[in-house]
Amino acid sequence: MRRHIIALVVAAAISFQPATAAAVDPPVHSPYVYRARVTQVVDGDTVDADVDLGFGIHFHTRFRLYGIDAWEKTGAERERGLAARAWLAERIADREILIESIRDRQGKYGRYLVILWADGENLNERLVELGHAEPDVTLREGDVLQLASQLRPGSIDAVITDPPYCSGGTLPAERTKPPESKYCQGGSTLGRPTFSGDSRDQRSYAYWCTLWLSVCREACRESAYCLVFIDWRQLPTMTDALQAAGWTWRGIAPWDKGRGARAPHRGFFRHQCEYVVWATNGRVPRLQDRGPVDGCYRETVRKQDKFHITGKPTDLLRRLVTVAAPGELILDPFAGSATTGVAALLEGRQFLGFEASPEYFDIGQERLIAASEGVQITRRTSQVL
Ligand SMILES: C[S@@+](CC[C@H](N)C(=O)[O-])C[C@H]1O[C@@H](n2cnc3c(N)ncnc32)[C@H](O)[C@@H]1O
Repeated sequence: MRRHIIALVVAAAISFQPATAAAVDPPVHSPYVYRARVTQVVDGDTVDADVDLGFGIHFHTRFRLYGIDAWEKTGAERERGLAARAWLAERIADREILIESIRDRQGKYGRYLVILWADGENLNERLVELGHAEPDVTLREGDVLQLASQLRPGSIDAVITDPPYCSGGTLPAERTKPPESKYCQGGSTLGRPTFSGDSRDQRSYAYWCTLWLSVCREACRESAYCLVFIDWRQLPTMTDALQAAGWTWRGIAPWDKGRGARAPHRGFFRHQCEYVVWATNGRVPRLQDRGPVDGCYRETVRKQDKFHITGKPTDLLRRLVTVAAPGELILDPFAGSATTGVAALLEGRQFLGFEASPEYFDIGQERLIAASEGVQITRRTSQVL
């Protein structure tokens, strides 16, 4: 099975008009739903179809099924690949179906990305449910433990993440305040949504971090890097949890945010640094083509580049994602506004992210779609925030 990101594309180059009001409840991604007949099932995620655009206009081309990666018909996957094709062919043979176009422009694989619907059933999802295909999206909405447990062992090349810190004070009353009052100056989010999962007490935080770090490690190949952001309060807990989860802790790279960082009052040192705890899944890889990796970072947080209330600078992540080789797959199980993903795509790495908040999922999607075309949007150009 190929591992690749789906090229999500932004604008409409061909102006399709829906040939029918969708008999789908509701169309998941797009308002563009057409009647179609599949003329050939190429494999479990590729079909040729004749699409009825309305007014007697028909369009015949090859489509790639959005968000899934079916087994190949050749090599070791042959048997499963043929089964996937056979199931799809039987499900859509000799009948009219609906095709939902995700973006009306060809992605970088030269195919229009679509969802196939038959009798109100999303066939893309059904192929995954039946084991004929695996999900193949850059960002998935949901809980880390549930989503990471579905990953294939050895399929991830690096984990780079910025989890909820459950920090912000020494007393339970301070720690259980919402993130915006703990992490935003004056409590103002400047329009950015809040998020959940940031109020665990110390013991449950350590336990929970150990859980998700373990599940993510199981999905990683030997020698994969794990980079986790954390603040000074939770640094000892995070390095304990990382090791309890089976990672080999290797060090800490400070991230200096500069003198703009706040201090509660003049008697304090500024909260100027956060930390990137780094570890490997077993041996440290001997890099031939890059490295050594910087052990200390100075990047300021710019308002136009901060999409999340605890968002990290894209330029910082662009430097960090280079621990993975070009083309390798980076997982961020707490994607937020998908800064890791934007950095990964801009640096030619693949990305898979999980995000529990629907608002941040939408913001992340928007940024990833642009990044897959090499574009880095700002808060000013965002359509979602
Ligand atoms: C610190 S933020 C990440 C911000 C990100 N680095 C950025 O630049 O936008 C952590 C994110 O994890 C998400 N989250 C919290 N609990 C989660 C869970 N159990 N599973 C998946 N995501 C979760 C939150 O919604 C939040 O957006």
